[in-house]
Amino acid sequence: EKGGYEHFMLKEIHEQPKAVQDTLLRRIDDDGRICLDGISLTKEDLQNITKIYIVACGTAYHAGLIGKYAIEKMARIPVEIDVASEFRYRDPVIDEKTLFIAISQSGETLDTLAALREARSHGARILSVCNVVGSSVARESDDVFYTWAGPEIAVASTKAYTTQLVCMYLIALYLGDLTGNISREYYDHILEELLAMPDKIQQTLDKAPEIEELARHLYNRTQVFFIGRGVDSAVALEGSLKLKEISYINSFAIAAGELKHGTIALMEPETIVIALATQDRLFEKMYSNIVEVKARMAHVVSVAKEGNDKIEAESTEVIYIPQCDDEVTPILTVIPLQLFAYYVAKIKGEDIDKPRNLAKSVTVE
Ligand code: M6R
Repeated sequence: EKGGYEHFMLKEIHEQPKAVQDTLLRRIDDDGRICLDGISLTKEDLQNITKIYIVACGTAYHAGLIGKYAIEKMARIPVEIDVASEFRYRDPVIDEKTLFIAISQSGETLDTLAALREARSHGARILSVCNVVGSSVARESDDVFYTWAGPEIAVASTKAYTTQLVCMYLIALYLGDLTGNISREYYDHILEELLAMPDKIQQTLDKAPEIEELARHLYNRTQVFFIGRGVDSAVALEGSLKLKEISYINSFAIAAGELKHGTIALMEPETIVIALATQDRLFEKMYSNIVEVKARMAHVVSVAKEGNDKIEAESTEVIYIPQCDDEVTPILTVIPLQLFAYYVAKIKGEDIDKPRNLAKSVTVE
């Protein structure tokens, strides 16, 4: 049932090209436009929406962070994002002009479900992004945007995350189109970039031996930092969660620009810093942050787009991802981080598919 792979997690990591492809193709019609069959949100409905909340937990929350970037950029609607366990208890401002987006792989996460019910009771319209047909979150939503990841068995979420990202981009494009805030050229360009993703994910997966080698060097460290700017700061959170949940290494993610406000105090010789530097727009700023940590003798593993070899001067190792638009890099950037977490845990001999203290779906508060 593991299809020849040693663990479900590895199988699911390798299923990502197909999962992303399936999620995309379900929503693109013959004219190359996004079709939201079965979703009732109309242009008129949208005209009444003044604010969007995205609420989720764990990895799904990290996908939501990228969704906020995409929706604000493409649709120009303000988006607030929160973890479900906080949202429920903080008296958020919600009314019938609010669109509430819940993201949940299982559709059974109790905190997410309770947040959804709270939003509904204040009149919000509910759209969920979910991987399980007929799950509680799906049943209690006005509309459901399914991810087509197939069953995810490993506790550490991988293909659910990349397919949730695809949904967030599609929702952002769709809303951008309805609000008239994106040009046809940009819409077509991002869709093309998305359609190229399955191949580019595969090219990134092909680097697994290189990443396994890196894991072999670094598996016995006790502390790892993930840094990045823009969407890379959100991917940093996901890379850090993956590593800590299956390898039990104390990892910490921070927006690179925040380092100098405290965390840089922790840098000392050989501290491991995984620096995500995929954003062309922010490359020079990120480069300066890498120089700052390198000056403290940190061991810097950078993730950058192919062609940005300038980064090699300041990095101990560089993992390259294929060229693509800044907006959609998270789908690729996360791949080496998933593989790194996997190989570190494997070399340490941990129970990868069932890490200690964790359950696949968290149905308690
Ligand atoms: O089923 P859900 O997407 O609602 O689950 C949310 C989180 O519990 C889940 O993503 C968790 O953080 C994973 N173990 C992360 O790998």
